[in-house]
Amino acid sequence: MVWVLLLLVSQLPLVTNLTHFKMPLFSAAIKNITEHLSQFEYINNRGLYNPLNFRLLDYEMGDLGTQIADAHKKQALDASTAQDLNDELSSIRLKVQNMQKYDKFNLLALREHIRKLKNRLESCRTYDKTQLDQCSKVLLSNISSPVVTQLNPYGTSYPFGAWGKESRHGSPGLYWVQSLQSSNIYGITLRTYSTFEDFVMSKNHKDISVTSSYTTTYSIQGPGTVLYNESLYYNCYKSPNVCKFDLKTNTFQHIALQDAGHDNKFPYCYYSCYGTTDIDLSVDETGLWAIYATEENYGNIVISKLDSSTLAVVQTWKTKLFKKSVSNAFMVCGVLYATRYLSPKLEEVFYAFDTVTGHDTNTLSVPFEKISSDIQNLHYNPTDQRLYLFNYAYMLAYELTF
Ligand SMILES: *[C@@H]1O[C@H](CO)[C@@H](O)[C@H](O)[C@H]1NC(C)=O
Ligand SMILES: *[C@@H]1O[C@H](CO)[C@@H](O)[C@H](O)[C@H]1NC(C)=O
Ligand SMILES: *[C@@H]1O[C@H](CO)[C@@H](O)[C@H](O)[C@H]1NC(C)=O
Repeated sequence: MVWVLLLLVSQLPLVTNLTHFKMPLFSAAIKNITEHLSQFEYINNRGLYNPLNFRLLDYEMGDLGTQIADAHKKQALDASTAQDLNDELSSIRLKVQNMQKYDKFNLLALREHIRKLKNRLESCRTYDKTQLDQCSKVLLSNISSPVVTQLNPYGTSYPFGAWGKESRHGSPGLYWVQSLQSSNIYGITLRTYSTFEDFVMSKNHKDISVTSSYTTTYSIQGPGTVLYNESLYYNCYKSPNVCKFDLKTNTFQHIALQDAGHDNKFPYCYYSCYGTTDIDLSVDETGLWAIYATEENYGNIVISKLDSSTLAVVQTWKTKLFKKSVSNAFMVCGVLYATRYLSPKLEEVFYAFDTVTGHDTNTLSVPFEKISSDIQNLHYNPTDQRLYLFNYAYMLAYELTF
């Protein structure tokens, strides 16, 4: 003991010198790592993984059994699939009973098993998959260099927002810009252009007033917006709500996404988080989707298919991808893709979750160029198969290859 102390003391001057020299660098690196990890701490701090109590599991299994029976009764499931799912559920039940006496840690694996079973049930049910016939059966393989790069019409004074093109075949192909002009969080107007030429030249725009104030129930919050079938869909003022503003009738609808994190609870992040990106709307060949996260799913991404007319939630899948660990996400052909930061000028699609099969992979590597680290809105448009990015005041678009 004394010997060790002596050794330490004798080396102290050297150590101090080194520390003095390297300290700023070390502490910066540690701060970096800490900030990055802090996104994940939520799971631990809130004790969400720990109270894996059996009662909750029992409840979940009971609920799942009822849902399978229900889906079967409504003929959303054929008899043999229902049997398969029930068999799997029985085997989980048996495991739970056995484990109750022994190994508590395997509960994590069980919860994962239940989550997958739930997703399979969701995938068996029939959201209108006929639309997927036009889809390639393979995952995204390449993203082009930007085919559009343009500063938004309000310039760098309003660097936050979303942009795109009407997402439904058969609706007027408006190009749109949705700028968040109050505190970089709230928006009230939608700027549209009826042709690509007008959009590129920034002329003949039309400003549509959504609300008259930034702080009403239907004011736009955050950049999760999309224009589909002549309606604007977005997360609205300080709520877990999806709002719909019909451009033809100037009327509103809204629906609460159950348990959805909002107001920077579960935004997209890299080292820092992208403000109020909690609830992200997306449109693919099958229609409207909401991408968000819930405490119940430990802050991991949840995907809900929405009925674009009524806004009703049609189906919900739960992924195991922590929302604050990805920089954005979008839907293509019933597949959720998520992105991450590679470098200041490069982003990468690295994850895919297929709602048709319930399978996911995090081994994709499809990089694409960007202008700034700050990813505000990234979504796919099924009418032109392009990806639209709002990137700190800049509007970019890309061609996709499958
Ligand atoms: C911290 O992270 C940033 C990227 O966000 C990087 O540019 C910087 O070099 C990192 N600093 C250290 C000390 O690792
Ligand atoms: C993939 O996209 C990159 C640009 O991001 C481009 O340089 C490359 O040629 C593309 N590759 C293929 C096979 O299309
Ligand atoms: C588009 O909106 C009209 C009402 O304006 C509705 O009748 C129609 O079903 C919608 N189409 C889709 C694909 O949502």
